[in-house]
Amino acid sequence: MSTKKKTPEELRSHRWYGVNDLRSFGHRSRTSQMGYSREEYAGKPVIAILNTWSEMNPCHTHFKQRVEEVKRGIWQAGGFPIELPVQTLSEPFQKPTTMLYRNFLAMEAEETLRSYPADGVVLMGGCDKTTPALLMGAISMDLPTIFLPAGPMLNGNWNGVTLGSGSDTWKYWADLRAGKITEQDWQGVEGGIARSPGHCMTMGTASTMTSAAEALGFTLPGFASIPAPDSRHAQMSAKTGMRIVEMVWEDLKPSDIITAGSIDNAVTTCLALSGSTNAIVHMIALARRAGIDLTLNRYDDISRHTPVLANIRPTGSYLMEDFYYAGGLQAMLAELGDLIDGSQKTVNGRTLGENLEGAKIFNDDVIRRRATPLLPNNGLAVLRGNIAPDGAVIKPGAADPKLHVHTGRAVVFKDYNDMAARIDDDALEIDETCVIVLQHAGPVGAPGMPEWGQLPIPKKLLQKGVRDMLRISDARMSGTSYGACVLHVAPESFIGGPFALVQDGDLIELDVPQRKLNVLVSDEELARRKAAWVEPVPRFTRGYGAMHQVHVMQANKGCDFDFLQRDGAGGAASTGSVGEPEIH
Ligand code: FES
Repeated sequence: MSTKKKTPEELRSHRWYGVNDLRSFGHRSRTSQMGYSREEYAGKPVIAILNTWSEMNPCHTHFKQRVEEVKRGIWQAGGFPIELPVQTLSEPFQKPTTMLYRNFLAMEAEETLRSYPADGVVLMGGCDKTTPALLMGAISMDLPTIFLPAGPMLNGNWNGVTLGSGSDTWKYWADLRAGKITEQDWQGVEGGIARSPGHCMTMGTASTMTSAAEALGFTLPGFASIPAPDSRHAQMSAKTGMRIVEMVWEDLKPSDIITAGSIDNAVTTCLALSGSTNAIVHMIALARRAGIDLTLNRYDDISRHTPVLANIRPTGSYLMEDFYYAGGLQAMLAELGDLIDGSQKTVNGRTLGENLEGAKIFNDDVIRRRATPLLPNNGLAVLRGNIAPDGAVIKPGAADPKLHVHTGRAVVFKDYNDMAARIDDDALEIDETCVIVLQHAGPVGAPGMPEWGQLPIPKKLLQKGVRDMLRISDARMSGTSYGACVLHVAPESFIGGPFALVQDGDLIELDVPQRKLNVLVSDEELARRKAAWVEPVPRFTRGYGAMHQVHVMQANKGCDFDFLQRDGAGGAASTGSVGEPEIH
């Protein structure tokens, strides 16, 4: 039975290529200038391939080849591929943080699709922010969309020791500062920790968000777990190209795939993976692009009954390559059973549940059974209190359990430079019971809410053997990081949130089981401090930064721009309906 819902005349690209007027003459003559004859594209779906490849993004090195495999699939299925380069958002290189530019790429993706003759789109991403950014833009544009995940790089290796991206960087950096390894050892780690194309292979933001994209239904089944250099990754790329052509004819769009149920599936997936805390911000932003008001409370509710099944660093022991060989995401989703809504639709036209039929776990130490989880629940906790009335988050499984309930004296740094200048000062009055506080590290203040949240432990304490302390900031933290780090404090300090009022010597109380985070200072004293608070000078006076600081929302709203979320997401900032205006 044919699933075609469109005729060639109903394709969006028909307005560019199919009509007989002066402007379409220009489109056709300029296409012939590129070496294509009419027979090659006439009446075919035009597939835009948004490629985040660049020579500055090591996680996407293989995209130069993969895009050819995608094109091969598109040609074979009767489509016409056009590759459109978009921002690369390279996590290791872009300053001050790729997060500052996530919304920039989301806008670029949406507007590129809107302004060119695209009938469907293949999104090529994987390095941290590229996945949410591309999906946010495509959801807003709502053309048939399929996501091609970059895939994790191979396990790192140094002198026979398996190394994980990020996590082992922080570990060996602490060991170097504590004098436990030599400079030569450190250089060995440098050479062996990233040894193939692909995104970070720990359960960082990249692995979390590509897995979330698959659970949402945006990739072909099983794709997110395949290591980047594996030949099956190339095969799946060609299949992705074939499938998007069918999706155009079927008119299968993001709005058919994203529902409150599929968002819950993706959140459950992130939690069962013990995924990056960054995914909270991105999932909220994605959901709000679809008009779904995903809240921190919903996240916390799901966390309370979701077991952590993926035994992957930094919470667990293994890496993504091991996860793939153990059965990959499909096996883990199947094991989650009734915690996943299998009725949700996916890009291959089948439901998530249908796609999971036959998925098996091949190593149940890497992918745990529900009866023997890594953690029974609470992979993430949402905290509230008088310094975080709109919420803050902590990953309890990555923190020393002794610190889950803790009260300590605050040692406050007013910004990153202040912290960098004083943290290793021998004169700093600090011990392991103290609470390290970093202000002005949020979406507006940093700017861009960088991954500074794994605040450094002072060298003198590292040398004493201290490896975890309670740390609080309005920053984010790399998904590859660990420690008792309270993150995403909202509203942020730079815009006058009460976190700005914490001072040296205040007592701060954390209670993870009770979900509480408070500074033990009277309301009267906090009011007095608020009256004396002086608004900082804005970071930007022009350009993208100026737009960002005016329109970016706080972490509990996903840090999207207020004018980009869709009606239904809630809040006064919701704008009118998002969709494709008529283009002439
Ligand atoms: Fe690209 Fe980690 S640096 S995913």
